[in-house]
Amino acid sequence: MTAILAGMPERAALLGGEPAVSAPTPPWPLVDAETLAAITKVITEETLCPVGAEGTQGDFERRFAEMHGRRYGLAVNGGTAALMLALHGAGVLPGDEVIASPFTWGASVSCILQNLAIPVFADIDPHTFTLDPDSIEARITPRTKAIVVVHIFGFPADMTRIMEVANRHGLAVIEDAAQAHGGKHAGRYLGSWGTVGAFSLQASKNLTGGEGGILICDDRAVYERAMSMGTHPQRLYAELELPEFREKIDSLAFNYRMHSMSAAMANSQLQYLEGWTLARGRNALRLYESVRDLPFLEIPPPLLETDRHAYYNIPFTYRPGVIPLSRDEFVQALKAERVDGNVYVRVPLYLRKRFQEHDYFGRGYPWAISETPLVYRKGDCPVAEAMAQVEFQVDGNYYEDAPELMAQIGAAMRKVGENAAALREWFDAKKG
Ligand SMILES: Cc1ncc(COP(=O)(O)O)c(C=O)c1O
Repeated sequence: MTAILAGMPERAALLGGEPAVSAPTPPWPLVDAETLAAITKVITEETLCPVGAEGTQGDFERRFAEMHGRRYGLAVNGGTAALMLALHGAGVLPGDEVIASPFTWGASVSCILQNLAIPVFADIDPHTFTLDPDSIEARITPRTKAIVVVHIFGFPADMTRIMEVANRHGLAVIEDAAQAHGGKHAGRYLGSWGTVGAFSLQASKNLTGGEGGILICDDRAVYERAMSMGTHPQRLYAELELPEFREKIDSLAFNYRMHSMSAAMANSQLQYLEGWTLARGRNALRLYESVRDLPFLEIPPPLLETDRHAYYNIPFTYRPGVIPLSRDEFVQALKAERVDGNVYVRVPLYLRKRFQEHDYFGRGYPWAISETPLVYRKGDCPVAEAMAQVEFQVDGNYYEDAPELMAQIGAAMRKVGENAAALREWFDAKKG
């Protein structure tokens, strides 16, 4: 502490000083001339409602699947829809148990509930915030059908070990790669390891169409089952080959079709994804290097050479007790310095009211399907509960090299640390 307190610190913005960050954030999403031309083309030359896999949407599905070494791609209107169809496609049935992460965006788990299946939460690794393979294995029962793995913040989960556990127990694996486009594990793209990979293309995501999503898979039956539940009969007539699905073509499915303009935008930007991902990685390392000596922050350990973080966000762990500020006060002071910092998960999913009260569809469903509905308790996933108290992240939409911005964000963290005692007084005075 003495080192960072040496000299007169600049005044924190919350105390009336100048905010540490003045460099502009790269504009996001990028809408360049090529993207505009691609959007113009679909609205003038194609159809606004592509019910089949033809045209730009079909091109996007093929290119995205090919990039991941997968045979099939199905474009949909969001990551939530991609996940819901992914589980259905993988054969998850009402009452099945599906292992999930409690440290994620709700859609990684609502896809289980929406298939009338039961989420069973496994714990996470404290460094990568992704599912711990040993904890997954400990949660498997004869009723387990699948695992939803989330590459949260763009961190690659340990897919080698997770696939080994899943294969040993005959379980489907759904990868929620909504935050992980362009990331890799063992040299292979995230989203291309499991039975199905599901991606979001919503505006903040590493590849975007404004809104939208896509799922990828290799198994024809998985693809056809997913398609049967989410798209237009016209596409089903054109594409379905397997009799079990062809015999039931109708208009009773959900409408999860992607808008053609979203497909055009995402398709035109796919060429940039590799370069953007590498720049995000360089920026995150710049930021981490600039604050490595701050004793109140913990930085994730480096990844193996063959792994690649997609840095949807740049995550940190706050070490409480080192400076006299809570994690939330530290983040509030950072925001005043114009750092786009946030806490991602405050309460692990299973401790929230819907799970505590079994209230999703009402009347206790889907849990009421089982004779002894699963009860979620504090302590179920101790690592996730602990990480929810100390995690925070900095927005990661820095897809261009931004050394000045990264240096300023690092300086903001240092400055808040240096001002901690004065900030403590400010927060205490505010509490009154
Ligand atoms: C991890 C994760 N899964 C799923 C989703 C859902 O994607 P969408 O918003 O496109 O439905 C999101 C979106 O924020 C996400 O972050």
